[in-house]
Amino acid sequence: MKIAVIGTGYVGLVTGTCFAESGHQVTCVDKDPRKIEILESGRLPIYEPGLDELVKRNARDGRLAFTTRVADAVPGAEVIFIAVGTPPGEDGSADLSYVLAAAEEIGRALTGYAVVVNKSTVPVGSADRVTAVIASVTSEPFDVASNPEFLKEGAAVEDFMKPDRVVVGTPSERARAVMGELYGPFVRVEQPILFMDTRSAELTKYAANAMLATRISFMNDVAALCERMGADVDAVRRGMGSDKRIGFPFLFPGVGYGGSCFPKDVRALLSMGRAAGLDFDLLRAVERVNEKQKQVLLQKAQRHFGSLAGKRFAVWGLAFKPRTDDMREAPSISLIEGLTGAGATVAAHDPVASETARQVLGPHVEITPDAWAAAKGADALFLVTEWSEFRMPDLDRLKATLRQPVLFDGRNIWDAGRMRAAGFTYYGIGRGK
Ligand code: UGA
Repeated sequence: MKIAVIGTGYVGLVTGTCFAESGHQVTCVDKDPRKIEILESGRLPIYEPGLDELVKRNARDGRLAFTTRVADAVPGAEVIFIAVGTPPGEDGSADLSYVLAAAEEIGRALTGYAVVVNKSTVPVGSADRVTAVIASVTSEPFDVASNPEFLKEGAAVEDFMKPDRVVVGTPSERARAVMGELYGPFVRVEQPILFMDTRSAELTKYAANAMLATRISFMNDVAALCERMGADVDAVRRGMGSDKRIGFPFLFPGVGYGGSCFPKDVRALLSMGRAAGLDFDLLRAVERVNEKQKQVLLQKAQRHFGSLAGKRFAVWGLAFKPRTDDMREAPSISLIEGLTGAGATVAAHDPVASETARQVLGPHVEITPDAWAAAKGADALFLVTEWSEFRMPDLDRLKATLRQPVLFDGRNIWDAGRMRAAGFTYYGIGRGK
């Protein structure tokens, strides 16, 4: 099939590349000429493990092309994905202007029947608006489908290639047949393609992210309770997760969820609820707990040290999670702002996110080329992102490098008993014992 993908962010680039990999002819469009230049030179505008090789191979083999012009990609395409950004507005609602602008450009470039697919996370009712925009500029036949993406940054290719399910919302039989053919190689009996109406598909995406965010906030409050009651959240988590109805994923307490999706989508769902006259109490609490959780390491440090003024602190891990260089809504930002705001200095290291972190944090935070340089002479070490290279540090060296052997482990990656036996003062999350 001939496919066009508008927008080369995470979702668009992964979608286009994976469809090229499965044998289709894909053109990816981005209006930012810098991004297209980077892609054409065989590099990636984002960090995503495994994606660069796929992009290079498919581009070399002629199945994947890049352009800045929608009008170059749309004519003749049977499926056109809209995967542009939907940044949050003041009130948390998603801004649809990029999606609608893309829809209009697509409409003007249509040369025959095509399925126009909303891949961006868009508010309920967006497919109807996209349909109206396209219909206002073309008389060619087309259908609109909502096909939200569930991939995780850091595991994007794997998630796309082996999805738990594919959700497709469209009332059109013709569009269902096209989408069924396209996703056929990626789905199985147990990981099916689920056809539904467009509004349900749009809502599924927000509800799924909000549910995962709810699990995390729930566990962060359980962790706080563990600390007060002398229980161990790891044991509680294992005890809960073993119940098949609950399951293990997304029950890790930590420094709060971040990234470009959970915070934004929780807010957008709240805003949609408000607009529809529903006060989504549970979700408001989820957001409140998360805001509180981003302060949890700062509070532990304040309790330990009293005043933080004049102290020097090390931070290991800045990205909102491992295997990405994404700093959007990263909990490290709140922590570092809290520490520097209290008069401390910070030296930080991240294996991949140093460049993006420098832009976000500004020049007053020292970003070191390796983890040891950050730890040197620090009064305590904060572990904020659970990169695997931080899991087994040389403890003798760490003790000799820090000025004071104090650890704040925001992801519970270290064994509390082992750290204490090695002479560290250890604070985890929800480890009351
Ligand atoms: C999330 C969803 O998991 C994807 O299914 C969805 O497609 C994506 O949003 C999106 O809407 O585009 P992502 O934001 O890439 O993916 O990252 P996650 O791995 O879900 O992590 C989100 C945050 O939750 C991170 O800050 C992570 O550290 C935190 N987290 C995750 C926890 O604190 N505890 C956990 O047990 C799991």
